[in-house]
Amino acid sequence: MNEVLNILKTSMEERFGSATGADVFFAPGRVNLIGEHIDYNGGHVFPCALTIGTYAAVRRNGTDTMRLYSANFPGRGVIEFALDTLDEHQNSWADYPKGVMWALKQHGFVLPADGGLDIVYYGNIPNGSGLSSSASIEVLTATFLSETFGFGLDGVYIARLCKESENKYNGVNCGIMDQFAIAMGAKDKAIFLDTATLDYTYVPFVLPDAKIVIACSNKKRGLADSEYNKRRGECEAALADLNTVRPVKALCDLTPEEFETLAGVIQDPVNARRAKHAVTENARTLQAVDALNRGDLDAFGTLMKASHDSLRYDFEVTGKELDALYEAACAAGGVIGTRMTGAGFGGCTVSIVRNECVDAFIESVGASYREAVGYDASFYAVNVGDGPANIASFA
Ligand code: GLA
Repeated sequence: MNEVLNILKTSMEERFGSATGADVFFAPGRVNLIGEHIDYNGGHVFPCALTIGTYAAVRRNGTDTMRLYSANFPGRGVIEFALDTLDEHQNSWADYPKGVMWALKQHGFVLPADGGLDIVYYGNIPNGSGLSSSASIEVLTATFLSETFGFGLDGVYIARLCKESENKYNGVNCGIMDQFAIAMGAKDKAIFLDTATLDYTYVPFVLPDAKIVIACSNKKRGLADSEYNKRRGECEAALADLNTVRPVKALCDLTPEEFETLAGVIQDPVNARRAKHAVTENARTLQAVDALNRGDLDAFGTLMKASHDSLRYDFEVTGKELDALYEAACAAGGVIGTRMTGAGFGGCTVSIVRNECVDAFIESVGASYREAVGYDASFYAVNVGDGPANIASFA
């Protein structure tokens, strides 16, 4: 923590003259335990916030200009834009925070004419890992804008607003899972969220005998790059076919049994497999939360593996990198559950590994992965943490 505060303070001083009076905010990253690619199909998801995330030091500068700097991308320098240019894209990482400012304005939260801020961002979420660094920046930005300008926004509102900014400003047709998990995160708890209604409950996720280990494939991925939006389109096409025989609001409204009786009307076999994934993944998520509530971690782990298989064969978003990590994890000792997490197409897997087996897991999965793809994976044992907060200020 001190190290992060030092980076923020030094960057404020170097880029904006001083750090005095700046407030420091934090928003977490997230990992999804189960319930993948169903937050846009009216399904249930089960993510949690992490203790790693994104930080910002923020101070009003008394002008009409926003000045943003990322200590993760020093080469890109300070990005500046006037408050009356929110409609214009920067074509850089700054479009995530700018999109949030834009969305706030659409919602009637207009910054004062002298509402410019000097902002230093710094994140310790591994880049491109699929642990939602973009949603973390969005929720962080909405949080400090709300606090700085007294908008009084709550977590659920912030999650919806940030999803909207990602959909409409950044052109990624994502669901609400990431923004919700981050804005509503709670230490040692996973969030059981019904994405159709936004009803949610916190489920204790404390593992005295095991750790959550993220294996990052280090394969670069781009959500906006077509495949994600394509999957959404395939699910929508399947839903439209189902609606020719009976009204179905969302794929995840169907049980696997109901789906089996109706699936024949889906014209395209690829779309039928996409829909099958959505329906069965929703059922697995309900079962997994049940298992956890009963204290049956092994059953939870088995469902995680079934989720990966479904994402691999029916939804086809894993790819050789994530499958290599998955297979190596299944072969390693002490692995309770493992699966790809997030959007897929690269990114990372999440595994639940017995404490005494973590070192051997990293070694054996690391070696198998290198052999399969020719470069290294990165491993992180992570902890479940709280949502966004104002954590410090510089005197
Ligand atoms: C990305 C999106 C989420 C969700 C996941 C897949 O992380 O941002 O909304 O769809 O992929 O579960």
